[in-house]
Order: sequence, then C-alpha cells, then structure tokens
Amino acid sequence: MYDFKPDPALDAPERYRQLCGAAEALTTDEPDAVANMANVAALLWEFVPDLNWAGFYRIGASKSGGEELILGPFVGRPACIRIPLGAGVCGAAAESGETQLVEDVHAFPGHIACDAASRSELVVPVVREGRVVAVIDLDSPEPARFTREDAAGLERLAGILADRI
Ligand code: SME
Repeated sequence: MYDFKPDPALDAPERYRQLCGAAEALTTDEPDAVANMANVAALLWEFVPDLNWAGFYRIGASKSGGEELILGPFVGRPACIRIPLGAGVCGAAAESGETQLVEDVHAFPGHIACDAASRSELVVPVVREGRVVAVIDLDSPEPARFTREDAAGLERLAGILADRI
C-alpha cells in the first residue's frame, strides 16, 4: 500500500518536493504511460489543495489527420475529450510550449469551461526531446489560486514525467 498523504501544514515548496518524490517513486521503472498518469493525477489531487480538476491531456492524432490534445487520466468531473492546439488554456500551453498561469479563467480568451466552478487554472507542458507530448492541467474554484511556486513545482514534475508518459 502507498501512503502519500501530505501534512496540511506543509509550505508550497516542501509540498511539491514531496509530491515530486512520490511521483518519482511511483513511476520509476514503470513503462505504462496510462498507469503513470493515473497515479500522478491521484497524487496531484492529494497534494495540491483547493482543486476541482487535476489531470493530463496528451498530444495525439486528430480525426482530420493533424494533431490535437486528447484527454488522459484525471481526477474531477468528466471533461472535454479533444482540444485543438492553440485553443483554450491547455491548447495555448501545448502550442507555445510555455506554462500558462491564469488567475481568472473568465478573462482568458477562448477558455474552455469543462466545469463551470473553475475560476483559475495552471497548465504546464511536458516536453520530450524538444517536443510537447502532453500537458498537466490543474483547475481551482478559487480565483488566483496558483502562484509561481505552483508553476515551478509542476514544471519539475513535468521534467520527471517527460519520458514516462
Ligand atoms: N479549461 C481548459 C480545458 C480543460 S478542463 O479545464 C479540464 C482549457 O481552457 O484548456
């Protein structure tokens, strides 16, 4: 049995240090991408307070022959399955290769509302050999929930997962 319950009193850097350690331990030597994303989505849900959605979108083939984001393992309400590159917060992260820290999703042009409760969002690309292969997406019902510390923690996590998902 794994027991990765964080202490609620942890500050953000220590919280992400422990989260990354748990993700490293759970995914090392495991080649199955879905299993690794499923466990990391569960860890995000345990370690990051005030979320209503935590999970993955991976780059995959679109029905018209190009590429788009396709829903991966997550915790939260059922979500949009396919997101075109460049669309919404996730599509912006995937297209630009840059972290998107959005304090107010209602002010983000093209934001895709999968859960009407979402007010702020953090999306970090996962880059393998110079190409975005997935994004990690966190949503919160609280406005301006995410900080640069959250972004830095998720970027470290993305680095750990780059060749494991
Ligand atoms: N809000 C995202 C869509 C994904 S859901 O939040 C799970 C976006 O604008 O890309």
